[in-house]
Amino acid sequence: MTPRLEIAPSILAADFTRLGEQVRDAESGGADRIHIDVMDGRFVPNITMGPLVVAAVRRVTSLPLDVHLMIVEPDHLLADFAQAGASRLFVHWETCPNLHRTLGAIQALNCEPGIALNPHTPALLISEVLHKISAVCVMTVNPGFGGQAFLPETLPKIAALRQMFGDRPSDIVVDGGINGETGKQVIAAGANVLVAGSIIFNEKHSVQNGLHNLRRALGK
Ligand code: DX5
Ligand code: ZN
Repeated sequence: MTPRLEIAPSILAADFTRLGEQVRDAESGGADRIHIDVMDGRFVPNITMGPLVVAAVRRVTSLPLDVHLMIVEPDHLLADFAQAGASRLFVHWETCPNLHRTLGAIQALNCEPGIALNPHTPALLISEVLHKISAVCVMTVNPGFGGQAFLPETLPKIAALRQMFGDRPSDIVVDGGINGETGKQVIAAGANVLVAGSIIFNEKHSVQNGLHNLRRALGK
């Protein structure tokens, strides 16, 4: 069963000199969630934002905040991100040696637990914890930067995950290189939450038009 289609703009591509305005524009433009990319310069070769930015975004929108933790040893910071207002916390499979404990800790913080998988990480590796997550985030680029090219070899993994979830109304989030064309491919494969950064936030058009153009290109 595939839950309804949602668009989650990634603020990594936003204009940080006016982040609040850009988030409000995303909400008024029909975004369903806000995707916040946290990077520590160790799990990925880039440093971005932390709980301070999550708290600031929380103050300007009522949309759910999906916090994507591209950090090593995420257990140490789960409470800080929950406190800052995260709705859902995605930890990377590649950074968690004790996933039952980590996912349980996220649940105990009243956040929805999610797992993110790098392009090379097989879907089967999360088969033992499917019942403990509300969403899986399939990376369709190597994490670290916006504006990268979509990796089509990740499409079979999306289909496999939708199969593994069966009747569970779990979200399959796709993250990286999403546009009208790749968006149609991932939806056909079974994804239902599309993270999009550079296609929505860029100087060529307003945020609202970015969202509108994407939905039109998807035929949704
Ligand atoms: C990359 C991030 C993605 C990225 C998507 O590590 O996790 O969310 O912001 O950006 P685009 O849509 O520009 O590929
Ligand atoms: Zn992300």
